[in-house]
Amino acid sequence: MKLITTSISAAAAMVMMASSFVQNVHALSLTIRNDIPGNATSPIQYGMMYEDINRCGDSGIYGHMLRNWNFQASDAGEKPTTEFWSAIGDGSSIELDIKNGLNDANTNSLRLDVADSTTRKAGVSNEGWWGLRVQPGEKYQASFFAKSTGYTGPLNVTLETSDGTVVASAATSESLTDEFQKFEVSLESTASDVSIDNLFVVSVDSAEAAGSSIYFQVFSLFGETFEGRENGLRKDLAESMQGLNPSFFRFPGGNNLEGQTIDTRWKWNETIGPLEDRLGRMGDWSYWNTNGQGLLDYMYLVSLQYCLFRSHRKQYKMCEDFKIEPILDVYAGYSLTGVSVPESDLEPYIQEVLNELEYLTGPADSTFGSLRAADGREKPFNINYIEIGNEDWFSDTYEYRYKAFYDAITAAYPKAKIISTADQKSRLWDIFDDHYYANITEMKSLFSKYDNYVRNNTAIFIGEYGTHVNGCCNGSPANLEAGLGDAIFLTGMERNADLVHMIAYAPMFKREGHEQWNPDLIHFDTETVWHTPGYYVLSEWSKNRADTILQVDHTDGEFGPLYWVAGSNKETKQVFIKVANIGDSEQTVSINLKSLAVHTEGIARVITGDSLDLENSKDKINVKPEEYIFNLNSASDFEYTFSAYSATVLVLHIQ
Ligand SMILES: *[C@@H]1O[C@H](CO)[C@@H](O)[C@H](O)[C@H]1NC(C)=O
Ligand SMILES: *[C@@H]1O[C@H](CO)[C@@H](O)[C@H](O)[C@H]1NC(C)=O
Ligand SMILES: *[C@@H]1O[C@H](CO)[C@@H](O)[C@H](O)[C@H]1NC(C)=O
Ligand SMILES: *[C@@H]1O[C@H](CO)[C@@H](O)[C@H](O)[C@H]1NC(C)=O
Ligand SMILES: *[C@@H]1O[C@H](CO)[C@@H](O)[C@H](O)[C@H]1NC(C)=O
Repeated sequence: MKLITTSISAAAAMVMMASSFVQNVHALSLTIRNDIPGNATSPIQYGMMYEDINRCGDSGIYGHMLRNWNFQASDAGEKPTTEFWSAIGDGSSIELDIKNGLNDANTNSLRLDVADSTTRKAGVSNEGWWGLRVQPGEKYQASFFAKSTGYTGPLNVTLETSDGTVVASAATSESLTDEFQKFEVSLESTASDVSIDNLFVVSVDSAEAAGSSIYFQVFSLFGETFEGRENGLRKDLAESMQGLNPSFFRFPGGNNLEGQTIDTRWKWNETIGPLEDRLGRMGDWSYWNTNGQGLLDYMYLVSLQYCLFRSHRKQYKMCEDFKIEPILDVYAGYSLTGVSVPESDLEPYIQEVLNELEYLTGPADSTFGSLRAADGREKPFNINYIEIGNEDWFSDTYEYRYKAFYDAITAAYPKAKIISTADQKSRLWDIFDDHYYANITEMKSLFSKYDNYVRNNTAIFIGEYGTHVNGCCNGSPANLEAGLGDAIFLTGMERNADLVHMIAYAPMFKREGHEQWNPDLIHFDTETVWHTPGYYVLSEWSKNRADTILQVDHTDGEFGPLYWVAGSNKETKQVFIKVANIGDSEQTVSINLKSLAVHTEGIARVITGDSLDLENSKDKINVKPEEYIFNLNSASDFEYTFSAYSATVLVLHIQ
């Protein structure tokens, strides 16, 4: 073993000196074997798992800013109310009106009974999802349906601070009649600061409308959305997804696909078409889901994002050639109160899935493909991955359910890769979805879980993972320790990349203070978004993608406290060495790149901190990746000191 000194950039050296830990004297030596063939990684190694949990759909990535916008159920999924709405103007009042519905999907309306007010203003106001964010210069699109008995003038639409200062305003160009019509306006904020203590107001001149009733239904309000899409995503949250460099998107759940009962399952056909045609449902995480973000919206999310990532990497081609791979999870006859559809009754549920697949993939003149075309998307999508159910180890009926769905789906879509969620003997699978919510000790043992696992032409999908340092599923912090547990886990999965084809964390998001599950990767409130240590670990592991995993020979001891993997990428001509150090002392390692010559300037992307308890908060980001340049002593040998409590990616450029 040759001992080579490495010079490290001043910044990195300072970080290392600042740490009070002693250096490990028994240097570990790693030899990276580019001289023997490595295993190819999957082209969709890292991605996202998505479901509406922790208030991340309505109130989160779905950009709709108003709460209780169609009066069909309370937030708790019970009888509809006027909650989150108020009357504006003394004497005027609001009420839920069950006799003046808009259509079959929206059978109620919000009625404003207008009285003349001292301010000459009467109207309705909505308080948003824990406030309503107004940003300087931001443009907003608002829409709603309205009709009136007794008033035929225009309406004012305003965003106002809670003390009544107008920060954006517009008036409808059409006047009200006694039939529902859709009104749409654009507003632009004149606010000088970001604020959330605001209201959305629709009002009339109370002197002119006094004595009349105005009925409202299906309101919408969007600020600037990701890629400007109508009915689109909240931009900062979509950009946070983008920051994970994802290659696939598993949706729409998770538990939230399954329903507590069979009838409250996620039904694809109730999430499509214009907003006013969609039906909400009681979600599985204790709050109402509007389905304003529906099947087609998810599919647009998939194609838009991919297009953008590729352009960042200067590999831009046609977006359509390169979209993020959708992993469509389909309802398979099991709901969370433990009920299964009996084998003899499965047929309509199977048909429901076949219809959904035809909606997505069928030609524009097919029965369900034509619905898609009518919804604005002529060109069929490709669905290459279909997951049958979710976590079906919860049930004892998966044998017959899997078999029935598998047979029908593979008969119609023989090329699709089928994902099984639990062990069953009835039929084969292409991919098996394993979920891991585990503490540090368990993550250390999961590191090698797949090392000697049977390779039999099936693959593993880590559809959900997360380090829960105090145990699953809501009492663990998103701290540095959890991030390092994630790094150990991901490193173990990468070492087995020939088998483990896809990896996604869960849950991805939480609205701070309104979550059902901890930890999560992306935290947000009405105003802003921030990321956890685990987010940065996944992001670095995902952005620095190897196409080949290289064998690493080592001396002196076994894995722990250091865990490592190495890989190379032909296209970018890079070598990546990813190392997690869960120990409280820094570790110096000599690294030999046998038969590889790299540039003698390397990049280290380091996520670390001086305590395992460190967390990020809205006000303080304690843990985030830092980049250092370091110099190698020669093109194939160097020494590197990994900080205590760190997750590091060394990026080397092949000569
Ligand atoms: C709209 O607001 C403006 C300015 O506050 C006011 O002059 C006008 O009367 C309002 N119009 C209606 C229809 O309420
Ligand atoms: C959606 O399809 C299911 C059957 O798959 C059906 O029970 C339900 O009524 C449909 N919803 C609407 C609004 O048509
Ligand atoms: C981790 O979980 C295991 C059970 O799988 C338990 O025995 C152990 O005490 C836990 N360790 C910690 C540090 O919580
Ligand atoms: C492949 O191996 C897994 C894990 O041992 C096993 O569950 C599965 O049944 C095997 N599949 C085939 C086709 O042998
Ligand atoms: C490649 O995968 C095989 C198992 O299929 C494994 O035995 C071997 O160690 C792997 N090679 C590397 C470099 O990881």
